[in-house]
Amino acid sequence: MANEKTIALDINGRRETVSVPAHRTLLETLRAMGHVEVKSGCEKGDCGACAVLVDGVAVDSCLTLAWTVEGRAITTVAGLGTADKPHPLQQAFAETGAAQCGYCTPGLIVAAQSLLNDDPDPGEDDIRLALSGNLCRCTGYTKVFEAVAQAARTMKEARGRS
Ligand code: FES
Ligand code: FES
Repeated sequence: MANEKTIALDINGRRETVSVPAHRTLLETLRAMGHVEVKSGCEKGDCGACAVLVDGVAVDSCLTLAWTVEGRAITTVAGLGTADKPHPLQQAFAETGAAQCGYCTPGLIVAAQSLLNDDPDPGEDDIRLALSGNLCRCTGYTKVFEAVAQAARTMKEARGRS
């Protein structure tokens, strides 16, 4: 189609090509490519449901134009772990009851991973601040903060064993 450009996106360790117009957001692009684990909420940067990691840092994919992240490492929640081999954050969210309807969960886990990439041993205030851009209508947040602290402990113990 005219005014579209074919770009290569590195998504969860796999290179995929897609044709996008200049105005297409990363959120729209990922979901159209089948990455529906990336959730669409407000589409204006308020809720954090659409967060993905770009080079290890959480961004709101609804505010990011797809072409601007060509060649950068994009990680969705599905790239962190699977049902068979969950990431410690995914395990902790399940064990603590931090996911209820689950719609906010992919974005929360991505935001938490971004924090842990930057600070593997965060305090509660650090966790609260890092997740302050993610809205959840169900949990009241307490279990979410517990889950992130639990995952941080699990990951610290794993590092201690390696
Ligand atoms: S959908 Fe992107 S911040 Fe709400
Ligand atoms: S678990 Fe339902 S919105 Fe967060």
